[in-house]
Amino acid sequence: MKILLLGAGGQLGRELKRSLAPLGEVVACDRSRLDLADADALRQRVRTERPALIVNAAAYTAVDKAETDTASALAINAHAPGVLAEEAKALGARLIHYSTDYVFDGSGVRPWREGDAVAPINAMAEQSGPENRPSWPAAAVT
Ligand SMILES: NC(=O)c1ccc[n+]([C@@H]2O[C@H](COP(=O)([O-])OP(=O)(O)OC[C@H]3O[C@@H](n4cnc5c(N)ncnc54)[C@H](OP(=O)(O)O)[C@@H]3O)[C@@H](O)[C@H]2O)c1
Repeated sequence: MKILLLGAGGQLGRELKRSLAPLGEVVACDRSRLDLADADALRQRVRTERPALIVNAAAYTAVDKAETDTASALAINAHAPGVLAEEAKALGARLIHYSTDYVFDGSGVRPWREGDAVAPINAMAEQSGPENRPSWPAAAVT
C-alpha cells in the first residue's frame, strides 16, 4: 500500500513516519518537499503519487500567530485538507486528517466524540472547524 504522509517533519509526523512504515511504502513530505499553501502543487502531488492512503499531519499550529495571520492559517488548516479530501475522493483513497482538540471548549465530563458540538476556544480552532470546511467531501475523510 502506498501512503502519502504530509507534515512528516512535525511532532506527530515524525512518529507517524516510523509507525506507518510497516504498513507499506511511505512517501513522506515535509514543508521543504511540499508546501500545503500551494493548492495546485498539492493536487498535482496527490495525482502523481496516487496513494491508497493520505495521512495529513501538517498544520498551522502557531496558536498565537493564527489570531492575526488568518489567511495562512486558513490555507493550511481548512483549504489544504479540503483539497486532500477532493483528491482522495477522486482517487478512491482514504484520508486521515488530524485536527485540534481546541475545537472543543473542555467543559465535558467524558472523552469527546466526533459528533459532539464544537465550541472553538481560539482562532486556530475556529479556522479548523466545520464552518471552514463546507466543501470537504465527508465520505472521503476518516
Ligand atoms: N502533538 C499533539 O499532541 C497533538 C494533539 C492534538 C492534536 N494534534 C494535531 O496534530 C496535528 C499536528 O500536530 P503536531 O503537534 O505534530 O504539530 P507540529 O509539530 O507543529 O507539526 C506541524 C507540521 O506541519 C508543517 N507545516 C506547517 N505549515 C505547512 C505548510 N504550509 N506546508 C507543509 N507543511 C507545513 C510544519 O512544518 P514546519 O516545521 O516547517 O513549520 C510541521 O512540520 C495538528 O493538527 C494538531 O492540532 C497534535
